[in-house]
Amino acid sequence: MSADYINFNKPYLTGKEAHYLYQSVLSGKISGDGIFTKKCHEFFKTKYGFKKVLLTTSCTDALEMASILINVKPGDEVIAPSYTFVSTVNAFVLRGAKIVFVDSMRDSPNMDVSKIEELITPKTIAILPVHYAGIASDMDAIMEIAKKNNLFVIEDAAQAIDSYYKGKVLGSIGDFGTFSFHETKNIISGEGGLLTINNEKYFDRAEIIREKGTNRSAFFRGEIDKYGWVDVGSSFLPSDIIAAFLYAQLENIDDIQGKRKHIWKQYHAQLKALEEKNYIQLPHIPEYATNNAHIFYIVCKSLEERTNLILALKASNIDAVFHYLSLHKSPFYADKHDGRQLPNCDRFSDCLLRLPLFYELTDEMINKIVSVINKFYLKK
Ligand SMILES: Cc1ncc(COP(=O)(O)O)c(C=O)c1O
Repeated sequence: MSADYINFNKPYLTGKEAHYLYQSVLSGKISGDGIFTKKCHEFFKTKYGFKKVLLTTSCTDALEMASILINVKPGDEVIAPSYTFVSTVNAFVLRGAKIVFVDSMRDSPNMDVSKIEELITPKTIAILPVHYAGIASDMDAIMEIAKKNNLFVIEDAAQAIDSYYKGKVLGSIGDFGTFSFHETKNIISGEGGLLTINNEKYFDRAEIIREKGTNRSAFFRGEIDKYGWVDVGSSFLPSDIIAAFLYAQLENIDDIQGKRKHIWKQYHAQLKALEEKNYIQLPHIPEYATNNAHIFYIVCKSLEERTNLILALKASNIDAVFHYLSLHKSPFYADKHDGRQLPNCDRFSDCLLRLPLFYELTDEMINKIVSVINKFYLKK
């Protein structure tokens, strides 16, 4: 690979990670819920006001915990966007749920809330909004529908750290929120995740499910004198080594977010002219949402155009990548889907293209990427 190759992603290290890993090892307790896990938990509660948080080994695991917490049974129905990562829905399919996919909006991959109510049946148990690119779904509308129909809301906030809906932090609005710290995210620990629990009723059971169905967490806090098997569960808690890495990132979150927002704004300002000439569509940030600069994407006119643009960028040593493939058409779910067309989802699946976005992306690199895109569309 040539030295001037621009990757799609480059995990950013703040410089403190190895130091904290070493401290964690020296602490003598490197299993779950050690000193760095506690520091991370405190960080999330203090900075964002989450009532209860639990680090997990991934967002996938946080979603699986949510699925266990709401007692999904075979035949229950869950409403979710089709334009999402498999984990959003797989966690519920694992427990026998049927996924009822809802289309994206025309101007955003987020779920079209106007289409949710018609999909509710007596078997519906939950709505799963995904905050695509860290941009909020319309949570007031979703919460109102959920309240009216007595449904759970689980926010898939995998991409949505440090992002808000009408001043409320994402992950704090539904019954549960799930975050990812996979190395492609804004804040990383290689693999890693977080479950936020917003309803006190579930605080204790969430701890039990995360500790293999035992009440070990309460035992370690000295609240009970022996611990045992009290519920179902699995091993959802990460080693404190992972938490040590994550803490180094969290301490630098404002710097990381500032840099990513600068990059996002550069792209947006420089590509606006192409949108105005109707060549491409840029991300739409609704008034109710903030932008955490997780992804910068453009929407091309067709699959063919996107493929050609990817090739043009590759020829200039730039790695740009598409994103999800419609889950309702996936080899695993196509024959289980009810046959409804989801055209907006399919369009994002065919036409959305993500541009490189990472802390060390320079203005010079952005200029180069934009000039290749301009040349592709304007042929000059
Ligand atoms: C919307 C969404 N949900 C869930 C996940 C799963 O996250 P993890 O890799 O931490 O399990 C991802 C991963 O990228 C995602 O984009």
